Amino acid sequence: MFIMTTWTGLLFFLCSILSPALCCDWFSRYSHQSNISLTLIRLMGGPMTDEESPVSFPYKLYRRIRRAEVETQLVFIRESLKQIFELYHYGNLSSVNWDTSKTHHFLQSIHRQKDDVSTCMLSTKTANCRLKNYYRRLAKKTLYRTGFSTASWELIRKVTEQHLDQLDLLANSIRALAAASRRRSGPRPQKD
Ligand SMILES: *[C@@H]1O[C@H](CO)[C@@H](O)[C@H](O)[C@H]1NC(C)=O
Ligand SMILES: *[C@@H]1O[C@H](CO)[C@@H](O)[C@H](O)[C@H]1NC(C)=O
Repeated sequence: MFIMTTWTGLLFFLCSILSPALCCDWFSRYSHQSNISLTLIRLMGGPMTDEESPVSFPYKLYRRIRRAEVETQLVFIRESLKQIFELYHYGNLSSVNWDTSKTHHFLQSIHRQKDDVSTCMLSTKTANCRLKNYYRRLAKKTLYRTGFSTASWELIRKVTEQHLDQLDLLANSIRALAAASRRRSGPRPQKD
């Protein structure tokens, strides 16, 4: 734990002096991509369903991750995007009436978003299993239970939008923190 904290501290230190070269202009690209994903998920189908998901939204996971280290938060975002991408590949989308091209672009966008967040991660850490379990349970209780019905895909689409909103908020808070830490450390004193 101590080593990990030191490492994150070091990373922050490096970021504050070398940024954005080292520490990534991940945010602007990420945030642009996040906007595209959110726009497409809303446009690729009709209005979002009023049905409630049988699996309650994991607000608790998001609350917990907000108190975690930045690196852990980035791992969480990357893993969430991976899980979301995979949700749409569990089974056949033939029952949905979504715009095929927008759906395709949406999935490409999620993939890019995941790559963008990965650019500044040196970590090979993986997300805790609660997150994976949540997505597994979600797929099981909606898609698998109904044999990939239209209604279950619409639920998945609505829940995906909620996740993308939450992930956007989380990324914005990381960015605000990084900006604040850069302001605190100020410009590097010149040595001569
Ligand atoms: C995407 O960005 C545009 C332009 O800044 C903004 O008007 C729009 O509300 C954003 N959409 C989402 C879903 O955030
Ligand atoms: C997709 O699922 C439908 C039933 O929902 C089925 O009729 C069709 O054959 C499946 N297509 C593929 C490629 O598995």
